[in-house]
Amino acid sequence: MSKESRLKFSADEILANVPVKEPLIVNGVKCHGGFDDDGRYRSPRTLMRVPAIKAWQEQHRATSGMALVEIPADTIPPYMPNAAQAKFLLRSGVREPMVRTLTEIAIVEGFGAMIRELPVPPLKSFIRENTEGTALAHLTTGLFEAHARDEAGWSEEGGHRQMWEAARDAALSKPEISSEIFASIMTRRGPANPPALFPELGEGVERLIRFMVNVLAIEVFAASTFAWAEEVLSDPEVSDAPDDTARLVRFIRSDEAPHVEYLRTALSEIAARTILTLDGKPLAANVVVDQMMDRSIRMMLRTRINDRPMMIREVIRRTAKVNDVEELMRQFDALGTSWTPPSRFADVANQSSATVG
Ligand SMILES: [Fe+2]
Ligand SMILES: [Fe+2]
Repeated sequence: MSKESRLKFSADEILANVPVKEPLIVNGVKCHGGFDDDGRYRSPRTLMRVPAIKAWQEQHRATSGMALVEIPADTIPPYMPNAAQAKFLLRSGVREPMVRTLTEIAIVEGFGAMIRELPVPPLKSFIRENTEGTALAHLTTGLFEAHARDEAGWSEEGGHRQMWEAARDAALSKPEISSEIFASIMTRRGPANPPALFPELGEGVERLIRFMVNVLAIEVFAASTFAWAEEVLSDPEVSDAPDDTARLVRFIRSDEAPHVEYLRTALSEIAARTILTLDGKPLAANVVVDQMMDRSIRMMLRTRINDRPMMIREVIRRTAKVNDVEELMRQFDALGTSWTPPSRFADVANQSSATVG
């Protein structure tokens, strides 16, 4: 059987690297991934993982006739500040919002390590149909571990956390980092365990699906953030290392693709099956996945269109060393992008995640 059509892999196979000729070294730190004979960047742990995900996706489509679940593109608001606003702030000497944003990205990438701690209940205990040779069956056999290593680094090797810190320090000439940024992220993250949507599933199963749905939403929203960061950091007018940092962000962006793909595959595999409640009753799994996705999108939306703009404006006002901060805000606002959520999420506008449970 060719490796593309295989459906079962060991953890070591999922974690295997494409052979590279040269490692990626950033600021003297050896990072994951590397360059092949043609000088092309190859993401870490993708030799078997990428063809495996593709094979599972094909199998899912062929056996269920269902499309893969996804976070609809129209639910993703533009990043605030947008690229023009971010560049305007940097040109005006207001660097703290950018420093803070890049530091937050690095910290959140580091949180990715937590996915390896996520307990996965025995699949047979809550899924009625067979799950052999699926992404689901490989969550604890390589997929979560590969994801954790990509985000937080592994052993002596830097991952996304270190790569974003390097991008920030190179583009903004090693800025000072306020120790309060970490605390502020923790406050905004809200409760770790929201009320159960499906108490009949039990905490273990709900936690697994909720966690995967939340990480998928974070990954998909982050894709637009990373595109934004590449656009800002590659501008020689505002970045001290436009080529190096743009390159680095491009590498990170390409590493992210398998994360989105394996998560939506595993969630699609659940959605196409029957979930069993704690007392063995069948439940339409697509409804469970849909409702969890809906809640997750609402949470991400609230953060991006309400909490984040509020935080950015506060940071600008507090740190801008300009004569007329009102004039600065006026120019900043004039560059803004207006955006309307799809009608089914219209109620999210003007709700803060701190006040909405
Ligand atoms: Fe990442
Ligand atoms: Fe990721």
